[in-house]
Amino acid sequence: MSVEVRPDSSLKPYNTFGIETTAAFLVEYDTEEDLLDMCESGGMTLPWLHVGAGSNLLFTRPFPGMVFHSRIRDIEVVRETADDVLLRVGGGVIWDEFVAHCVRNGWYGVENLSLIPGEVGAAAVQNIGAYGVEASDVVEKVETVSFSGRRDVFTREDCRYAYRWSIFKQADMRDRFVTRVWIRLDKKEAYKLGYGAVEREVDRLGGRSLPNVRQAVINIRQSKLPDPKVMGNAGSFFMNPVVSRECFERLAARFPDMPHYETPQAGVKIPAGWLIEQCGWKGKSLGRAAVYDRQALVLVNKGGATGNEILALSEAVSQSVEEKFGIVLKPEVNIY
Ligand code: EPU
Repeated sequence: MSVEVRPDSSLKPYNTFGIETTAAFLVEYDTEEDLLDMCESGGMTLPWLHVGAGSNLLFTRPFPGMVFHSRIRDIEVVRETADDVLLRVGGGVIWDEFVAHCVRNGWYGVENLSLIPGEVGAAAVQNIGAYGVEASDVVEKVETVSFSGRRDVFTREDCRYAYRWSIFKQADMRDRFVTRVWIRLDKKEAYKLGYGAVEREVDRLGGRSLPNVRQAVINIRQSKLPDPKVMGNAGSFFMNPVVSRECFERLAARFPDMPHYETPQAGVKIPAGWLIEQCGWKGKSLGRAAVYDRQALVLVNKGGATGNEILALSEAVSQSVEEKFGIVLKPEVNIY
């Protein structure tokens, strides 16, 4: 059990955009106790940032403080009944390896979230989602260690989950490290195939089963989303905007083909990928940054791009969307 502190360390392996930059210190820890020891010894310096696989991050300059990364990687079965299983999962477990483990064991609930890059801790902070499922559907509670050396447990309600949001994204909660996530999964067959493309692909693969749902999601994602190992990216760069019904009616009168989804709250969600494509950005480049040619919501590093090149492209894209539709896109990625 230990803490490894590496001064002036490259952050390239810690951001899926593949941006070459550095952290003043990179800190990797094996256990909660390691973190607490560091807090108590006064070894923490500001500013700091906790990363998972860096699949939702854009670095625009060298990070002047400590970048933390968890090596808590165990998956513990806390309780198992005939109906469900409760797991306690280390924040540093690779999310997709966790999904594969659940599918192998016949546990239902996270298969729609297959192939999402990143780690379990970040998944719970960011409330990752895809194909009709969000992390918050399965998270029971979240264990944290704070900068001041406290251990706390947050229930799902405490986390106040919303679309790509949890309380851990609030500025006053930034002094917390998510160390472990409790996840409850079904052992009885339960599929969520409401997202049309998934159901079709599952049928093509031979019908409903956990491995087929996982494979269907993998196939769909691979057909639309670039593999960060091949082409740097952070998945969707922007969130899908939710506009008021009045704003939606006004836009729909001008753009009758505009896709949209009703939301449980008052507004209407419009796919940002469509807005960006309508502005002519799909497949276009600015320097070494580009809008992916198969999914306009994804910005890619064509090779050697700086964080600022990606940022400049994102600003040009959102400016076009604002000019054409009057909608301000909000980045989904965290920019540093
Ligand atoms: N669309 C276009 N052009 C594009 C892309 C999308 O017109 O280039 C329109 C189409 O109408 C399409 C609709 O947008 O039917 C939705 O596209 P898609 O199914 O690809 O989903 P998305 O809304 O663009 C969201 C998530 C993804 C997640 C998918 C599937 C956000 C910000 N993104 O994308 O999550 O995989 O749904 O559930 O909510 C991520 O967060 O990094 C991510 C990849």
